Amino acid sequence: MTDKLKLLTPATLILDDKSYSLPTYMGVEGEKAIDITKLRSQTGYVTLDDGYGNTGACESAITYIDGEKGILRYRGYPIEELAAHSRFVEVSYLLLYGELPNSEQLLKFSTRLNESSIIHEDVHHFFNGFPRGSHPMGILATMVASLSTFYPLPDRLDAETEVQIVANLVSQVRTIAAFSYKKSIGEPLVYPSIKYKYTGNFLNMMFSSPVRDYQLDPDIVRAIDMLLILHADHEQNCSTSSVRTAGSSMANVYAVITAGIAALWGPRHGGANQEVIKMLEQIHAEGGDGTEFINQAKDKNSGRRLMGFGHRVYKNFDPRAQVLKEHCDKLLNKPGINDPLLDIARRLEEIALKDDYFISRKLYPNVDFYSGLILRAAGIPTNMFTVLFAIGRMPGWLAHWREMIHGEQVTIYRPRQIYVGETLRHYQDIKERV
Ligand code: SDX
Repeated sequence: MTDKLKLLTPATLILDDKSYSLPTYMGVEGEKAIDITKLRSQTGYVTLDDGYGNTGACESAITYIDGEKGILRYRGYPIEELAAHSRFVEVSYLLLYGELPNSEQLLKFSTRLNESSIIHEDVHHFFNGFPRGSHPMGILATMVASLSTFYPLPDRLDAETEVQIVANLVSQVRTIAAFSYKKSIGEPLVYPSIKYKYTGNFLNMMFSSPVRDYQLDPDIVRAIDMLLILHADHEQNCSTSSVRTAGSSMANVYAVITAGIAALWGPRHGGANQEVIKMLEQIHAEGGDGTEFINQAKDKNSGRRLMGFGHRVYKNFDPRAQVLKEHCDKLLNKPGINDPLLDIARRLEEIALKDDYFISRKLYPNVDFYSGLILRAAGIPTNMFTVLFAIGRMPGWLAHWREMIHGEQVTIYRPRQIYVGETLRHYQDIKERV
């Protein structure tokens, strides 16, 4: 336990007529926890917590969320302030190293990211191996895992190697993402350029071409950079927990990040932004205003959910959705950008926020509800949406990996279970089986 945890009055647990004293702690924001690290050895009991919604997997100093109050802070800074005043590279540094960089630190970090943005030329052969139409998340997961073969890691990372590997991943995830898109449309790869900053470089690699005069739209660059900031970390979410689980076995960092990419792909997690657009497009195609779809989303048997609504932690508005909604309004009101799906999204939100089904279950718009509309306005194809989420979440994943491996001790994640299968039985020869 770090010295930031305040020891409280122990909890008393009465089990099978015996009394046990369990330590309790409070974090710097008043979150309280019962320490059950000795529960099984003392009582023989384990806890059951489907989805770990009541289980603190670790102490962390990176991100604080208050789901009831709709609070999200990176290293103590409110997400609203970072979205308004910062840039993704600066926020990445903050998450990774704990403080906002000064001018010299920011220049050094940005320079390292730029110099790391090129991937080994031999990696390009991998792209040729994927069948046409491969999902970019499958390509990203494969390519990141393969980086361990191109950039083999020593068993113990010295400080400089770790700094470089972290910069490589933050920077090269863009290049791999853009290359996978170019491959999917059969266009020549566009390399990173020193002429552009982080997000502009990504958009240039995505959309410029030797035969097209592509000019970066500063509003689009700003909106995508802000979107990456909003996705940069979110404490112990599904993909970050997967990173910590893989990292606890001391697997190499490329394998650890690949675990995060794999978990993020799911439609209930990072894949939701793609599902939101599919939902809005379906409603648009059916010519509805969303009322029918909402009725289906309320019907368990329909197998449909209102994508972009609900959250494991936020039982109030997701503060990121608030920021995105403002940017959505601004971006989609630009001349030449008109998306009928925005009106449908607004209509769905208006209906759902008045409907007791959603109110009683505390289901509000989450980060994915509006992010897809901004990505569409930027011309990002729908199947790349979760890849953009991965680009944003990369510094968060790496910050949690660093926090874990530099912690007092790295305890391998190994939850227990309650067995409900067959009790003891003995092998039967096949002749005796019915
Ligand atoms: C992200 O954890 C993170 O931090 C994740 C994330 C991050 O930054 O890393 O914030 C990113 O993953 C955001 C969430 C994106 N997913 C979606 O938008 C998919 C749609 N949302 C749901 O699948 C759902 O809301 C979850 C998975 C997000 C949260 O599920 P919970 O909190 O476990 O809620 P639940 O599944 O236990 O459902 C509680 C009730 C159920 O009804 P009852 O059984 O009580 O009658 O609410 C219903 C659910 O059926 N419900 C929904 C719903 N979400 C929950 N009903 C309709 N539409 C929905 N979207």
